[in-house]
Amino acid sequence: MAERTEDVQAHWTRPGVLARIDAALTELGHDPQNLSPEILATLEHLHSGGLATTRRQANRIAVTEDSRVLDVGCGIGGPARYLAHTYGCRVDGIDLTPELIETGRVLTERCKLADRVVLQVGNALDLPYPDQTFDVVWCQNVAMNISDKAGLLAGAYRVLKPGGLFTSTEYSVGAGGDIIFPVPWAYDSSINFLEPADVMRARYQMAGFRILEWVNYSNVVIEHYEKMLSSPPKLTNRLIVGDDAPERQRNSQRNLIEGRAIYWMITAERPRL
Ligand SMILES: C[S@@+](CC[C@H](N)C(=O)[O-])C[C@H]1O[C@@H](n2cnc3c(N)ncnc32)[C@H](O)[C@@H]1O
Repeated sequence: MAERTEDVQAHWTRPGVLARIDAALTELGHDPQNLSPEILATLEHLHSGGLATTRRQANRIAVTEDSRVLDVGCGIGGPARYLAHTYGCRVDGIDLTPELIETGRVLTERCKLADRVVLQVGNALDLPYPDQTFDVVWCQNVAMNISDKAGLLAGAYRVLKPGGLFTSTEYSVGAGGDIIFPVPWAYDSSINFLEPADVMRARYQMAGFRILEWVNYSNVVIEHYEKMLSSPPKLTNRLIVGDDAPERQRNSQRNLIEGRAIYWMITAERPRL
């Protein structure tokens, strides 16, 4: 299947993101020029389960202030800022969508994290970093939009140091029937590239990874969707992903409940030679 890079970029582009965030922050009594990951917590983790998923994922890997982390498909950089702020590490983030990177850079400056968080536009399938640069490659809700999964995994493996960890949250298809669209990452099947979990696992192994954990995280996300949809936070990621986010998130929840999709939290190691 061919990559749909331009369509994916268009899917995640909603001009005016920063202006909407600033207006919402001001309305809530915050100074948009003076921010922190805590203030932005409900807004900036653009994946299933939000900040709670980021925390759980971080707890499964060993990040210290000496770690170099790469966030592949970093969105507006919320998880990258969380990791830098919490662990003191340096995080590089790369994302296909210029609108999100531009917004992320401004938010990073305003969180006073620009010395540790560096965001840039680029493609996960063509990572512009030397071999064996990172201790951790981090990836949340990105692979669903990428057809060339082997290319994604090969790139992550290449830039990891031996002994380094790749941590990823991503969906597979389940046995419960076809995906119901629209979902947060696609309005139809044209940019949706989910695969069965056994195929995903085999790809990790083919890329050279040793799988350390392969956790079905669907139930946590089903509950999170329920809470968020019944009582939406004031600072909502709708400002970034669109006003129709609730309908798409509800479908995502239903896909999980009905076993049409499964959400995985994966930790894999690039083995030392
Ligand atoms: C659901 S958002 C997740 C953003 C971020 N990981 C987070 O959790 O906050 C998916 C992101 O993947 C990015 N993306 C999709 N395909 C990509 C690719 N081939 N290379 C880089 N980024 C990609 C999109 O631009 C979008 O920002």
